Amino acid sequence: MKKLKRIWLGIGFFLVFLYNLDAQKPTEKFSFVFMTDIHITKDYHAEEGFRKALGRAMELEPDFIITGGDLVMDALDCGYQQALEQYDLYLGTISNLPIPVYNTMGNHEIWGWQNKSLHQEEWEDYGKNLFKRRIGQPNYSFDHKGWHFIVIDGIEYNDSTGYIGWASDETLSFIKNDLRKVDPKMPIILITHIPLITLEAQLEKGALAGNHPMEVIGNSKEVLECFSTHRLSLVLQGHLHYYEKMEIIGISFITGGAVSGAWWKGNYRGTEEGFVLVQINGEYYKTEYIDYGWEVTK
Ligand SMILES: [Fe+2]
Repeated sequence: MKKLKRIWLGIGFFLVFLYNLDAQKPTEKFSFVFMTDIHITKDYHAEEGFRKALGRAMELEPDFIITGGDLVMDALDCGYQQALEQYDLYLGTISNLPIPVYNTMGNHEIWGWQNKSLHQEEWEDYGKNLFKRRIGQPNYSFDHKGWHFIVIDGIEYNDSTGYIGWASDETLSFIKNDLRKVDPKMPIILITHIPLITLEAQLEKGALAGNHPMEVIGNSKEVLECFSTHRLSLVLQGHLHYYEKMEIIGISFITGGAVSGAWWKGNYRGTEEGFVLVQINGEYYKTEYIDYGWEVTK
């Protein structure tokens, strides 16, 4: 009789264990929008175009928007006032949205790196400081309905080109420290402006072509290795302005086109002005590229 009691007790514990395992899995449905390469400027009717994209996004009723960087046309090579005006225009356009906007820093948000006449010691807002002051930290994370989101800075200064794609020690440490607090079973979405993985060079130049250091994060292997003990599900990338989607050993890499297309001058090599809708259902997701209908006619 005692033995039977022990067996029932064992079964009970096992069921509780299974229930807890299941409890850690996300179960809710939600969607969010990934909008990259907006390049807002007072020219080309860009503000009108961006507002149209936001309007289309809101019709889809997402919980929030994540931007993928290159929010402004260009601060890398412009005067201080011009940089501030572009930031004001961007922040003003998103200011009345009823849902949160999580921003990613793009290379074009970095002020002055391609302007040799600027002296960084003299300018508090030089480089990434302008983004940090006006928008926030370029490395951060948050949770939403059982999913973990990590936004990273994969851009470093380079003497000859202004910038390259590279995850600094600071970024790598941020990821490693952040993951210490994340359940290994929790699905993760990683957002980076400069891509970790892309097929653009191979598509355009052939299978043996390599990537330019300004096009990809050069130490992407190190970044991805940080996730070896965790469940990285989706990587959302920007920078290239064209749309691509790859699934490799259970991780999807999506380069999300561009809200601005070819910098507000039309579509970019066949990728229409658009954004990515991500629909989550429990621990699964599907994605779709949305052409929000912008046409360059003016
Ligand atoms: Fe861009």
